Amino acid sequence: MSIILKRNLRSPWLLKQVVACYSSKSGDAPAAAAVKTIPKNLLEDKQTAYLQKENGVIFDKKPFKIHLDKDKTYSWCLCGKSKSQPLCDGMHKNEFLKIKERPIRFKVEKSGDYWLCNCKQTTHRPFCDGTHKQPHIQAAVK
Ligand code: FES
Repeated sequence: MSIILKRNLRSPWLLKQVVACYSSKSGDAPAAAAVKTIPKNLLEDKQTAYLQKENGVIFDKKPFKIHLDKDKTYSWCLCGKSKSQPLCDGMHKNEFLKIKERPIRFKVEKSGDYWLCNCKQTTHRPFCDGTHKQPHIQAAVK
């Protein structure tokens, strides 16, 4: 939980949602997985995760569980237009779409299953932090 509190969460409401999401014994995806903390992107200091202020379009209203290997570098889709969600497929390079967001490169500390954000609104790119529970995100995808 300390990693959550150290980060700059946008609002008390969001902090409450994150705590509920990661401490609940039942509920939706991350809580059910008994995740205690949000994983760390080992490349976050070297990549663009915090340099890009804009979020992409909302792709889905829930996270996506994926197996990641600790020795691989991944690119998480930030723009929300990739057809290989939650990972980048290069769609942002299509000049006709005029997409400003770039993918977030990331690595994980150990191999395993991770919940990656698929709403593209997380403040802990690329990992789900419970932001998707906000009403406007839930309402955006039918
Ligand atoms: S899917 Fe959970 S924060 Fe985006």
